[in-house]
Amino acid sequence: MIDKEKIRQLCAGRPVAIVGAGLVGAGWAVVYARAGLNVKMFDANAEITRNAMPLIADQLAGLQRHGLLDEAPAAVLARIAPVATLAEALDGVAYVQESVLERVDVKRQLMLDIDALAAPDLVVGSSTSGIPGSAFALGLAISPRVLIAHPVNPPYLVPVVELVASPETSTATVAFADALMQAVGQSVVHVRKEVEGFVLNRLQAVLLREAWALVQEGVATCEDVDKTVRDGLGWRWSFMGPFETIDLNAPGGVADYAQRLGALYQRIADARSHPEPWDAALISEVESQRREQLAHTDLAARRAWRDERLMEFAAARQRPAPAAP
Ligand SMILES: NC(=O)c1ccc[n+]([C@@H]2O[C@H](COP(=O)([O-])OP(=O)(O)OC[C@H]3O[C@@H](n4cnc5c(N)ncnc54)[C@H](O)[C@@H]3O)[C@@H](O)[C@H]2O)c1
Repeated sequence: MIDKEKIRQLCAGRPVAIVGAGLVGAGWAVVYARAGLNVKMFDANAEITRNAMPLIADQLAGLQRHGLLDEAPAAVLARIAPVATLAEALDGVAYVQESVLERVDVKRQLMLDIDALAAPDLVVGSSTSGIPGSAFALGLAISPRVLIAHPVNPPYLVPVVELVASPETSTATVAFADALMQAVGQSVVHVRKEVEGFVLNRLQAVLLREAWALVQEGVATCEDVDKTVRDGLGWRWSFMGPFETIDLNAPGGVADYAQRLGALYQRIADARSHPEPWDAALISEVESQRREQLAHTDLAARRAWRDERLMEFAAARQRPAPAAP
C-alpha cells in the first residue's frame, strides 16, 4: 500500500535517482514514480536510458489495463526524467537506487563516484542480487548511508525487497530504507547478517541445484521439473512460505512434520553434500530441452506474457483475502 504522507516526511519533496537503467533499474523507476516521487534516471549507456522510456510507458499501460494504477500512465511517466550524467542524477535527491552490473569492481567504482558527489544525507540502496556491501561499500564517507535493497524482477510487480546492512551501515539508514520501501508499497525482509545471495537467492540456489541435478541424473525432464513447481509447490508458495506450508502439512504442525519427514529430508541433503558444477554438457542438455518448449526468438514475448500474468495476479492479490483464523 502506497503511503504518500510518509514519503513526503521521508523525502521532503526531493526526487530519487536510479543509477543503471537496465531491466531492474527501469522497474524501480516505475515503483518510485507510481508512488508519486519524481525520479531521475541515469545509465552509463545513454541508449539504455533512452530505450527505458518506451519500455516503462508499456509497463505503465499494462498496470492501468489491470486496474493497478490510480492515475493516468502519462502522469506517472512525466515524473521520470532521463539525465545524462551521474552528477545531474544525484543533484538534490534523497535516495539513490543503484542498479548497475553485478560486478564488484563496477559497484565499487560507482560508490567512489557517488561518495565524491553526494550530499551529506543521501542514502544509497544497492539492487545487487547477492554481493554483500562489505565487498564494495566500506571505508567511505558515505558508507554509513549505503545498504543493500535487493528486489525481485520486475520490482513494480513482485513486492519483496531484502534490506542488508554492511558493518558500517548506520541504524538510521536501515530505518530510512525500511520506511521508504514500505511507503512505496514494497514488502521488506531484513537480512540480519551479511551472507552471499542473502535469503532469496540462497533459497533459489538450493531449488536450482536440485533441479539441475534431477535433469542430469535423468530423474525428470526440465518440463516435468517446471511442472512440479508450476502446478505443485508454486500454488501454495504464491501466498505462504515453506515454513507455513509444512506447519499445515502434518496434523500436529511443524514439529510433527519434522518428526515424520525430517529423516527423509536429511538423507536427501546428505546425498547432495558434494559440489556438482553445472557443466557444459548439462547446460547444453537443459538449453536444448528449454528451446523445444520455447524458441529463442520467443523469449521476449514470453517475458511480456509473464508480466501480464503477474499483473493479473497482483490485481487478484489486491482483493481482500478471506479472514484468517
Ligand atoms: N535481472 C534480475 O532478475 C535481477 C533481480 C534482482 C536484482 N538484480 C540486480 O540488479 C542489478 C542490475 O541488473 P539488471 O538485470 O538490471 O542488469 P542490466 O544489464 O539490464 O542493467 C545494468 C545497467 O547498468 C549500466 N551501468 C553499468 N555501469 C554503470 C555505471 N557506472 N553507471 C551507470 N550505469 C551503469 C549498464 O549500462 C546497464 O544498462 C544487478 O546488480 C543485478 O544483480 C537483477
